Amino acid sequence: MDKPDAFSAPVLIQDMSADLWNSATVVLETNWAHDHMVPSRRLYPHQWSWDAAFTAIGLAYVNPTRAWRDLRSLFEAQWPDGRVPHIVFDPRTAEGDYFPGPAFWDVPAYGRRAARGSTGLVQPPLHAVAVWEVYRRASAHGADCAHEAGEQLKWLYPRLVAQQDYLSLHRDAAGTGLASIVHPWESGLDNSPSWDSAMAGVPADMNLLVRFQRRDLEVADAAHRPLDIDYARYLGLVLTYRDRGYSDTDLAERHGFVVECPAFNAILAAAELTLAHIAAVVGADPRRHVERARCITTAISQRLWDAESRTFRSRDLRTGQLSPARAINGMVPLILPGLPEDQAAAIMAEAASPRFGLPETTGLPVPSFDRTSPDFDTLRYWRGPIWINVNWLLRRGMLVHGYRVEAEDLRTAMIRLIEESGHYEYFHPKSGEGIGAPTFSWTAALSLDLLADQAVPASARAT
Ligand code: GLC
Repeated sequence: MDKPDAFSAPVLIQDMSADLWNSATVVLETNWAHDHMVPSRRLYPHQWSWDAAFTAIGLAYVNPTRAWRDLRSLFEAQWPDGRVPHIVFDPRTAEGDYFPGPAFWDVPAYGRRAARGSTGLVQPPLHAVAVWEVYRRASAHGADCAHEAGEQLKWLYPRLVAQQDYLSLHRDAAGTGLASIVHPWESGLDNSPSWDSAMAGVPADMNLLVRFQRRDLEVADAAHRPLDIDYARYLGLVLTYRDRGYSDTDLAERHGFVVECPAFNAILAAAELTLAHIAAVVGADPRRHVERARCITTAISQRLWDAESRTFRSRDLRTGQLSPARAINGMVPLILPGLPEDQAAAIMAEAASPRFGLPETTGLPVPSFDRTSPDFDTLRYWRGPIWINVNWLLRRGMLVHGYRVEAEDLRTAMIRLIEESGHYEYFHPKSGEGIGAPTFSWTAALSLDLLADQAVPASARAT
């Protein structure tokens, strides 16, 4: 393989802004809850799956023991079929403090967890990537940390493999080599316009909002949150999946939402590439992981590519159609070194175009959705605002494909935005104002990584 994979760039600790570094560590300290990190104390008072991956990447610099603890807490809740739940509930948090909580999900008892332990959905499997990031930084913290890291790697490897197996076997709903999501919440980009066309076919039973009380509207501004009609569909989808025992049999025929997402699958493939590194350390065979990464990359490149617009889109398996929406998830395949060069160049062109606008033109990281679309919404989450986690992935992709100057501009734009606005959950795509939860874990954690990982020395920028 002639390109570095997305997650093996050299670690350079320099150019730190002490204030930002310190404020990030305060957020991570505040949001630590006994044995896991919460994304935000008020809005999200449990443990979320891909949040744990992003936060581990930052914790690796300041508290690797907590990074491992957080990841282990998550994997201790892994289901026997390999799925890693999208939320692991904290029994110390009252049922009324979050909706939909454990009673709504009604997950049957399994493993060592009590019946109220988790949801039955998943989120993008970024954990192998996070595990590797924590592992390779551990040596900077001395011999004890390095030893601990080796032990953690051995514990986590078979569990990460089981997670990948679940997604590749049970969730390959159409036998295409790609994993499907069965709910927009599984994408991590919950309210993205990327799901609008598929969601239009899902019945919206508004009575569900009478039977069940939304809590997000009590703790967040309604203008930022999903509309009631979308929320009714979200609840209905969970109920149908739950009532069939969270089974994945015949998904394409009987479930209301079955979609192949380019970001989810790019992360699935990146995880396989990273598992090849982990396998080599723990004495397992790396080749199956490299091969799987290659197959998933090829499937993304063929099935989720819209040749006319030269963009990646999500595919609705129920209709067979690609979504018309040009959303940020279409850019995440850039993290894959095996992506054909012309598709990588097309992603960069889309990112630089007025639809997204790289920092060069806007001074800001890229928004979550096409700025020129009539559906672009500056406040509603995933329908326009800027999120740090997906920009972080985009920057990694730029480094993989050699777009070093653009990657550095994006890194500094993210740092500037967080320095000026704070560790918010997301940001207004025109003003940069912070919106959503104000002390948000992954924004803080990734700001540590962005400060530390200056992959392009400033002196190279003039050339
Ligand atoms: C929101 C985001 C999701 C995240 C969760 C917890 O639901 O859309 O990606 O995991 O909050 O932070």
